[in-house]
Parts: sequence; C-alpha cells; structure tokens
Amino acid sequence: MRWWQKTVVYECYPRSFLDTRGQGTGTIEGIRQKLDYLSSLGTGAIWITPVYVSPMVDNGYDIADYCAIDPLFGTMEDMDKLISDARDRGIRIVMDLVFNHTSDQHPWFLESRKNRENPRSNWYIWRDAKVDGSAPTNWRGIFGGSAWTWCEERGQYYLHTFAKEQPDLNWEEPEVRKALYQCAKFWVDKGIGGFRIDAITYIKKPEVFLDGTPDAEDGLVSVHNMTANTPGILDFLHEFREHTVMGTDLFTVGEANGVSAEELPEWVGEDGGFDMLFEFSHVNLEFKKNEIWTRPDPWTITELKEALRNSQNHTRDAWYPVFFENHDKPRCVDHFFSDKANRTAAAKAIGTILYTMRGTPFLYQGQELGMNRVHWDNIEMYNDISSLGQYELALKEGKNKEEALAAVHRFSRDNARVPMPWNSEKNAGFTEGVPWLKTHEDAEQLCVQQQLNDPDSVLSWYRTLAELRRSHTSLAESSYEEVLAEDEDILGYLREIGEEQILVLVNLSEKEKTYKFDEPGYTILLESCKKHSPGILHPLEAVVLCLKMR
Ligand code: GLC
Repeated sequence: MRWWQKTVVYECYPRSFLDTRGQGTGTIEGIRQKLDYLSSLGTGAIWITPVYVSPMVDNGYDIADYCAIDPLFGTMEDMDKLISDARDRGIRIVMDLVFNHTSDQHPWFLESRKNRENPRSNWYIWRDAKVDGSAPTNWRGIFGGSAWTWCEERGQYYLHTFAKEQPDLNWEEPEVRKALYQCAKFWVDKGIGGFRIDAITYIKKPEVFLDGTPDAEDGLVSVHNMTANTPGILDFLHEFREHTVMGTDLFTVGEANGVSAEELPEWVGEDGGFDMLFEFSHVNLEFKKNEIWTRPDPWTITELKEALRNSQNHTRDAWYPVFFENHDKPRCVDHFFSDKANRTAAAKAIGTILYTMRGTPFLYQGQELGMNRVHWDNIEMYNDISSLGQYELALKEGKNKEEALAAVHRFSRDNARVPMPWNSEKNAGFTEGVPWLKTHEDAEQLCVQQQLNDPDSVLSWYRTLAELRRSHTSLAESSYEEVLAEDEDILGYLREIGEEQILVLVNLSEKEKTYKFDEPGYTILLESCKKHSPGILHPLEAVVLCLKMR
C-alpha cells in the first residue's frame, strides 16, 4: 500500500484557518503553528487551497503566478518551513493545481489578449462574435452570466468556465501544457506530497461550439452541460501524469464534477490519469442536473447509500477519496440532515463513515467541530462569488429578495469558509484584527478549546476515530462489503482482513431503527450513543464493532 492510502488528508482553507499577523486573514505560518493539532486527527497530508499570487476574485482560484506565494498568506520561506516542519511530523503538503484557467492578470493572459499575432495568442480560448455581435454561444459560466467576455483590444470574445477574471487555458496548445507541467514540477521539487487538481473536467473543449437549449430564465445553458468531460480529456491527463508525478511518491486527486461513479475505472488507478478522483454524486443529490440553488431536487437517504455504494463498487481495483465536505459545499450536518437533527450526533455519524469506509478520508477544516451553516441577513455580508451569482440568477427568475437569500443561506460556499473557531476569546482566536468573513455566531460552543475539554464533543470523537485508525492499521487495507443493503436508512459494512472483521453500522435517519444482523459476538470499538443495544440503533447512532470469529 502507498503512504497516502493509509493516512487522513486534512483540507485547509488557509484564509480562514489562523491569522498570525493580525490582518484578518489566515497565514501559512498559522498552519505551521497548528501541525500538532492536525496530527491529533490522524492527518498525514494537508491539502492547502491556493496560496499563489492572485487578485483573489475567487479567493486564490484565479492564479497570476503559479510559482510564487501571495503576500496575503506569507512568503516562500514560510512555505518551505511549513513543508519541512510538517515532514518532520510525518505530514506532507498537498498543493492545489488550478490548470483549467488562470487569472486575467496572469502575464500569459495579458500577452494573449493584446492581439491575434503575439506568441501566446493561442494560449486561451478566443472566438469571434456572432454576426449580430453577440457572444459565440449561449453558455452560462458556473458563477452566473455569460461564459464569454468581449475583449476590445483583440476584437474577440474569450471563454471562462468560471468568472470573467478566470479565462480558460487552451490545452490544445502544446506550449500551454508544457508551461503548466513546469509549474507542477517546481512544486514536486520542493518535496510536497501531492496535488489536488482543480476543475479538471473542463480542460478539454468540444471541437465545435454549439448553442444549447436554455435551462433558465436568462436564456443561457450551463457551460458544464456543454463542455464537461469531453472525449479526449484522458489523453491530456495521462500526459500530465507522465510529465509531473510519474516515478515519484506523490499522489494526485482530481476534482471531477460530472464524472460518474461508473466512469471512475477509466480515470483512476495504475492506468488512469489520477490516483484518486473526487466523484460528487453523494454530495450533489439535490442538484442532479443543474446547480441552480433555488431549485434543489428532493432526495432520500437511500439515494445517499446508493451513491456511496456505486463509488465503492467502481473503485474496488483502485482507490477512493472519502469526503463529505469541502470549501465549496454546505456543512454536512446541514447538507444531509434536517434542522431539527441533533448536530453532534449527525457530525459523529458522518465522521464515523469518513474514517472507516474504504479509501482515504478527506476531512475539511471545521468538520471535526461539527460546524454548521451561518445565518446572515444581508447578501452584502457574503463574499463568495458564486453566492452573488446565484442571488442575481434567482432575482432574474422572479424570486423575491427573501427567497433568493434563503437559497444563499442554504448553499453558500461561505458556510464552509467562515473563520476557524479556536477559543472563546476575541474573534474566536482566529485573528487579532478584523476577520475577513464574520466568525460563526456559535463560535464559543463550537471552538476547539471548548471541545477539547468535553469527552462527548465532535472533536473528541474525531480524535478517537484517529486513534482507531492508529490501533487498527489494517483497516486501511481491509476489504469492503456492504451489509443491510436493503435497509432504507442504515449504512452498514464489514471491513475484513485476515482474522479481523470490523462491522460499522450507522443510522443515517433521525428516528430509532431496528435491524437484524447475525452478530456472532463482538467487542465494541466505538459507540456514539451511551450504550449500544444489539438490534437497535438510536437516531443517528454510529457503532464500530470488532466481531468475534466464529
Ligand atoms: C473548483 C474549486 C472552487 C473554484 C473553482 C474555480 O471547483 O474548488 O473553489 O471556485 O474550481 O477554480
């Protein structure tokens, strides 16, 4: 087994993690100061969302220099120190590669936009206007509005899957690919542990650009449905792998919205482009076709079970990154459960699956505290660019301001981006200055300091889960077999290797459930409610049992 299959990856959103300079935004040094804390959660790798030089239109996902650190986060020396201090503790740093697009302030784009003759003229996706002067197609960018922006200097439109400040690179141009691989190599040489590769499903564009059938009142169609996962993309990914990480011990995990569980075998493993791929069906149940926040689809726990089953089944010969949260998604306690659910129990239920399912757990900052969404009463309090776009779209669709804000409350990416609450002091111990985003209203109860002193807290549960992974190292290698598959609400599975059989049962519903499972006798490794009674699971109860061999 490879090192990254046996460990936990912690996703850090640095801007909101810990500010060591009193400026209101987190720093790289802040991450370094919390390495011991991260270690106590079983962390063997930290994925840091982008800290490169950036105008920060999309909080760093708009990169203006792939090989330099933005002063907001610190310096390259801070980064080198983090990489080496983390390594001393057996933790590797994972960088976020944003290769579908750059910032519109990247020198490559500044050159490309000048005219049609310059050496980088073909590095981005340029097209002429339609005869009436309008955009080449009716595609809507993921953050709202047309996916095309007119460039006066060049007299053409350029394509941006995301914001207009994030022009898409032209991967068909070999020089572009070469330049990107060189940037990746720069980080490989620094001794990092891997890459998370952003928005990768969009790098290959269709040969012909066609209008699509509008899917909302703005007359546009989501660019995702027109370009994601275009055939031929895998050739690019194999080439990327060959020129960057092949022959090293780094791992790669791709962000692949739009790739289905059934398609995973092509994408991951020895012959695929990546070691792991974030497949989103279990966290996109409410947006099966389109991510329009005012129009979520209904979904059930049974569908959640099915989605998890599918991704497990299709990665049997490969590897799966288990995750329920990230910096783009609602907090899991809100996402999967009702407002009435016991938040602590809900967070422990998801945490149990995260740490015991087959695959590498990806734990997102604050998930270990059971954080939930925030309640802000004004759209101006939100920073997230997609929240602003969705709000506008809702108004265009005829929703009133309250309805538009309700959708933002529910799905805003800022729910996951509020500052990390460390203690009950000023600004929850996140900063001495003015935090860039308001701290959570329940920071005092949620904070690390408070939870460390409470053996029943979500944080204590995560530390126990980390201990379980340490004391049962074979868990990582064990086989995975679902049990109680026909039950609507209980997720059950057996992890088995050699003489060891571990049974995990999680009641994902908010009601008490009975079940029949022929347990030959067991010892309890973990129980999230006070006392586990065989055959019964309390609402949201999670148990991990070590079965006695017959
Ligand atoms: C990915 C990132 C997201 C970002 C987008 C554009 O989905 O996770 O935060 O906004 O790509 O780079």
